[in-house]
Amino acid sequence: MSTPLLEVNNVSKHFLGLKAVDGVSLTVQKGEIVSIIGPNGAGKTTFFNLLTGQLEPTAGEVKLRGQVINQLAPHDRARQGMGRTFQIAKPLIALNALENVMIGAFMRHSSMAVATEKAMVVLERVGLAHLARRRAGDLTLSERRRLEVARAMALEPEIVLLDEVMAGLNQSEVGKAIELLKGLHADGLTFLIIEHNLKVVRAFSERVVVLDRGRWIGEGTAEEILTSPAVIKAYLGEGHMGGQTKQTTEVNA
Ligand SMILES: Nc1ncnc2c1ncn2[C@@H]1O[C@H](COP(=O)(O)OP(=O)(O)O)[C@@H](O)[C@H]1O
Ligand SMILES: [Mg+2]
Repeated sequence: MSTPLLEVNNVSKHFLGLKAVDGVSLTVQKGEIVSIIGPNGAGKTTFFNLLTGQLEPTAGEVKLRGQVINQLAPHDRARQGMGRTFQIAKPLIALNALENVMIGAFMRHSSMAVATEKAMVVLERVGLAHLARRRAGDLTLSERRRLEVARAMALEPEIVLLDEVMAGLNQSEVGKAIELLKGLHADGLTFLIIEHNLKVVRAFSERVVVLDRGRWIGEGTAEEILTSPAVIKAYLGEGHMGGQTKQTTEVNA
């Protein structure tokens, strides 16, 4: 087996007494789409922050292409091919869509002309070229989510981490977003996604990892995970998985 693109060994993050992430391991091979699901507060976003360097792990090791990257700052990890989106999108609202994407492009290209051209190609790829000059603050939720993906793409990443990019979108917007991500995957991108919507997970992901209270509690295909007693138990009391499972069943009926 070749060296995994991303390898996470036994990482933990403790906030004082709270074990937000507690000894989680995961590998992602180049070309895979791996999903992380789990109830609110399970530690999913914290786990992403450990991978991309926004937070330093209390223990454990993060490797990219076999190299330990624990000591690298977020922008160095981006330079090495890790792109990400944030659960709470942070576009620079006073800048237009193109300028937002150019900030990412400047990481790879110092020339204004080249950065502009690269950013336009990315905007076209995500279906936002017609809104290039619109202020980010004036974009709709679904357009802002696309802009987030575009900002990550502008770094020319090898792996992209998506934190709930479909949350709050309507069904048709979710459908288009899945289509976009499948296209980017076909172009060669590897994905690690945090996703609440199990319809998305099922449509998009080959392998699903479940976190609960900071811990890894299961892994498998979407079908296996949806019927796993440990996973169902973790979600009991929260209720949303039941609802989404039903929705998924209806869609596939
Ligand atoms: N910076 C922080 N300081 C203290 N506690 C935090 C911090 N970030 C997250 N937490 C806590 O860690 C737990 C996991 O949070 P989070 O990773 O956001 O979960 P998820 O993304 O799965 O909903 C939660 O209990 C949250 O309140
Ligand atoms: Mg989160």
